[in-house]
Amino acid sequence: MKENILITGGSGLIGSHLTAQLQKLGFLVAHLSRAPRTDKTQTFFWNIEKHQLGQDAFKKMDTIVHLAGTNIGDKRWTEKRKQEILRSRVDSTRLLYDELKSREHKIKNFVSASAIGYYGTDDNESFITESRNPGSGFLADVVRQWEEAVDAIATLGIRVVKIRTGIPLTPEGGVLKELAGPVKYFVAAPLGSGKQFLSWIHIDDLVNIYVKAIQDKHMNGPYNAVAPSPVTNREFIYQLAKAMNKPVLLPNAPAIVLKIMFGEMSELVLKGAKISSQKIQAAGFEFKYHNLEDALRDLMTRD
Ligand SMILES: NC(=O)c1ccc[n+]([C@@H]2O[C@H](COP(=O)([O-])OP(=O)(O)OC[C@H]3O[C@@H](n4cnc5c(N)ncnc54)[C@H](OP(=O)(O)O)[C@@H]3O)[C@@H](O)[C@H]2O)c1
Repeated sequence: MKENILITGGSGLIGSHLTAQLQKLGFLVAHLSRAPRTDKTQTFFWNIEKHQLGQDAFKKMDTIVHLAGTNIGDKRWTEKRKQEILRSRVDSTRLLYDELKSREHKIKNFVSASAIGYYGTDDNESFITESRNPGSGFLADVVRQWEEAVDAIATLGIRVVKIRTGIPLTPEGGVLKELAGPVKYFVAAPLGSGKQFLSWIHIDDLVNIYVKAIQDKHMNGPYNAVAPSPVTNREFIYQLAKAMNKPVLLPNAPAIVLKIMFGEMSELVLKGAKISSQKIQAAGFEFKYHNLEDALRDLMTRD
């Protein structure tokens, strides 16, 4: 029998792809959202600031997939924005913990988004695995605190899986849209040194990792969700230009300009890390898109 899945932040980029795939596979999917949506998915509501969560939200549910969190690349990282980035993840997780602890329910699995930002940034060429300690810096601090809140849910006897997500490539948005825009107008250039690693993943593979984490009761704890072949920023721009039939390469965009334009947030593109996919593969996951060329070719030719 297919399980019932409650997705927080299900209206977002990853959540909408995951919802479509789960529904296609016959799962019953509901969303936990801050506001009513126009799509047909059943939606329950929560108010994280007021620590309120819809009375019937957990009824009939077997699994929670927790994706909610304000977007980290939308606005400049002021102190206020940093608090929003942190609190939207940590406070929402604590609310789920409190309600899971106090309500009657039959939820057995909790699959949470996490991020490779956990490891901080790293200039080395060696692969980073899940056993690496948390790194330093704002994002690493956020992800560490977010994961600590998620880990508390395991103390309730619920299986917890954390999907440490890399940079998802999707046809309609996210990083690919930001980088493909300039390439279209012949102004693509590697960013900063161009040597920083970009640990990407095709959205279909990411969604299938979530589906596996829901179904495979042997999965527990953190798993990196990145393709097996991360590339440098320079290689990424080169491959993107090739996929778009554009004869790029301009000199690298100086890091200082990006720092002035985007402030501390510029680290999202100026820094990176080479992340290993070995653990999820050892758990039996088979990637559809191993290399960037195939992933880009697929995404560029989708409607
Ligand atoms: N996309 C990436 O590059 C990436 C990489 C690594 C990790 N992740 C993690 O994966 C998760 C999903 O990513 P995504 O790209 O799908 O995100 P997204 O498109 O920005 O959507 C996230 C969803 O979270 C909810 N949300 C937004 N602001 C919120 C707030 N202040 N408090 C509570 N909920 C809020 C919204 O749902 P409602 O409006 O329905 O409430 C939104 O649709 C995030 O937690 C993100 O940190 C993403």
